Amino acid sequence: MNLDLPEANQLLDDLIAGEKKFNTDTEHIICPPAIYLSAFSEKLKNHSWLALGAQNCHFEKNGAHTGEISTSQLKSIGVKYCLVGHSERRDNFNEGYDLLLKKVKALLAEDITPIFCCGEQFQVRESNVFKEFIIKQIEDSLFGLDAKDISKVIIAYEPIWAIGTGKTATAEEAQEIHQLIRQRTATQYNESVAKNMRILYGGSCKPSNAKELFGQKDINGGLIGGASLKAEDFIALSNSF
Ligand code: PGA
Repeated sequence: MNLDLPEANQLLDDLIAGEKKFNTDTEHIICPPAIYLSAFSEKLKNHSWLALGAQNCHFEKNGAHTGEISTSQLKSIGVKYCLVGHSERRDNFNEGYDLLLKKVKALLAEDITPIFCCGEQFQVRESNVFKEFIIKQIEDSLFGLDAKDISKVIIAYEPIWAIGTGKTATAEEAQEIHQLIRQRTATQYNESVAKNMRILYGGSCKPSNAKELFGQKDINGGLIGGASLKAEDFIALSNSF
């Protein structure tokens, strides 16, 4: 819920103007607040290097759901990706495992790539069951999919204590969880599904720490909040791979 329309337009204009400075070997996605999706979609028509993503969706196809946005509506304006289960949605809107699986399925039905977020609160990290907690989020929402469908999902590991706090997980802490997610995926499905799964890290990721995080074997990218609001940081993050 950052930036008003002129500010959001300025950010997008700066990103588009900076196209040549982006790393051509990485995929780039921008997920603005829903109110800007249509305007961004128009502006991005000739800039397919920067894909459009939404921050949330409803799971029903259509109908009386005031204030909600369906996956087919997102698709109709060119949205290619959508976040699911960001910790702020889980916490503030009680989004649980079953609901998130329904959202993932609704997105896949429209060929929109879900970016499924998981991660633990600080109190959970301090306990000795935080790994089980993270894996359960994935098992209960994603392992209801078959191998073909889960291969289309991107996972974002976001320790909640690191989101917007300036505290980042160390590269080793992040790698440990990414590796765990990949291993668990291999036992549930197979090696090939696990190997190809894209797992992003999120939580105070910024140009000064991205290189080390992105350098880890099982970290395939970043889900960036605060640092994505500045075009120069967005570009620097792209070049941290
Ligand atoms: P942050 O946010 O990069 O500002 O910590 C991450 C997120 O909200 O997913």
